[in-house]
Amino acid sequence: MDLMELDKKVLWHPYTQMKDFEKESLLFVDHADGVFLYDKEARAYYDCISSWWCIIHGHNHPKINASIMAQLGRLEQVHFAGTTHEGAIRLAERLVDIAPHNLTKVFYSDNGSTACEVALKMSFQYWKQAGRPKKEKFIALDRGYHGDTIGTMSVGGTSGFHSVFAPMFFDSYRLPSPYCYRCPCEKQSPDCCSLECLLPLEAILETCGQTIAGIILEPLLQAAGGMIVYPVRYLGKLAEIAKKYGIHIIFDEVATGFGRTGRMFALEHANVEPDFLCLSKGLTGGYLPMAATITTDEVFDAFYDDYEKGKTFFHGHTFTGNPLAVAAAIASLEIFERDAVLELAKDKIRFLQEEKERFTKLPIVGDVRGIGMVAVFELVEDKATKRPFSPASRMGWHVYREGLKKGLIIRPLGDIIYLFLPLSITIDEIKDILERLFSILSSIKAVS
Ligand SMILES: Cc1ncc(COP(=O)(O)O)c(C=O)c1O
Repeated sequence: MDLMELDKKVLWHPYTQMKDFEKESLLFVDHADGVFLYDKEARAYYDCISSWWCIIHGHNHPKINASIMAQLGRLEQVHFAGTTHEGAIRLAERLVDIAPHNLTKVFYSDNGSTACEVALKMSFQYWKQAGRPKKEKFIALDRGYHGDTIGTMSVGGTSGFHSVFAPMFFDSYRLPSPYCYRCPCEKQSPDCCSLECLLPLEAILETCGQTIAGIILEPLLQAAGGMIVYPVRYLGKLAEIAKKYGIHIIFDEVATGFGRTGRMFALEHANVEPDFLCLSKGLTGGYLPMAATITTDEVFDAFYDDYEKGKTFFHGHTFTGNPLAVAAAIASLEIFERDAVLELAKDKIRFLQEEKERFTKLPIVGDVRGIGMVAVFELVEDKATKRPFSPASRMGWHVYREGLKKGLIIRPLGDIIYLFLPLSITIDEIKDILERLFSILSSIKAVS
């Protein structure tokens, strides 16, 4: 049987309406190199979304390949309870080194959802063991996304994905998204507004702060919720309020971590120290499933006691600290250092952020925003009123298919088209991608 037919017979793909592919073909990816994915006919496609936001130094990187190969002959997997191994120790040391100073203890898991789930559970249990058992609730942001497990969906704000599961969720509080383009206080500019979207935080904490364990959010970029870039000031102010009321700050840097915003971690733009930092995706350079939740001595110490006191953190995954994933992660961090990746990315980021502005003149582009290696184009049917296209028009899907014809893999979030590029990309490649995308978007007419 033809492989593509066999795929349809035996596979169910994630975040995919399989009926969309009744007549259309899935893109069969045969191999990859740098910023390119290649199909069976060796046709090249720019991987404009870094294969779901995780590739950092490009595909098929010789140093990461070599590191995994070297590890393969030594130790491929071992359970991580009661055992340890060199890579896991060395990686944790490096992560503590690059994380904010207050974060000193690394807990490994295997994907972004579990990195966040671990932080929520640790925070919850911490308060029980720190003599504040009523602190059981979390605050989260509308349009926030922390994963697809029941726990992370419970603090998620992407109802389009998750509303069907709502009856399974635990209760939590929501703040409005700092979505400047669609801010209800229209008169203000994001640079000088009074951060009205943070007012509900003080209100919640004033009335029921005693019951709040922590707040979870994606610093500076709400990714899956619509690639919403928000002001650095917001983060600083939020941290100030959270600290005043003594609740945990959980930063989910699963998407923003490892250089994507131009700094190793997005939190560095605001100089905020969270109580938990959740990492995955780019941790291994995007090669293998792995995650880390990094926390403070204070949290760790609340769990550290004689076994019979019942303070153990009973959480773990089979592939916790997998040695192959660890080898990839160490190689990725070494590349950051050896190749001065963040320094070299500065010019590329400047170029991307300046050039993206050209798109503002297109009739269907309502908003252009961006940070680091991320550039975002929000499509609207009517620019004056910001009216979106009707969902039935499936504009994003149309752009996706046009992208494939032009050798671009873009995977819009509804009608929000974005580029989420690897740090290894060159300026010429960015230029080529922008030209191809511009030609696609300029060929679409505004309906009104
Ligand atoms: C910010 C953020 N947190 C958590 C997750 C969940 O990660 P995973 O898909 O590895 O479970 C994602 C995935 O896109 C994400 O963007």
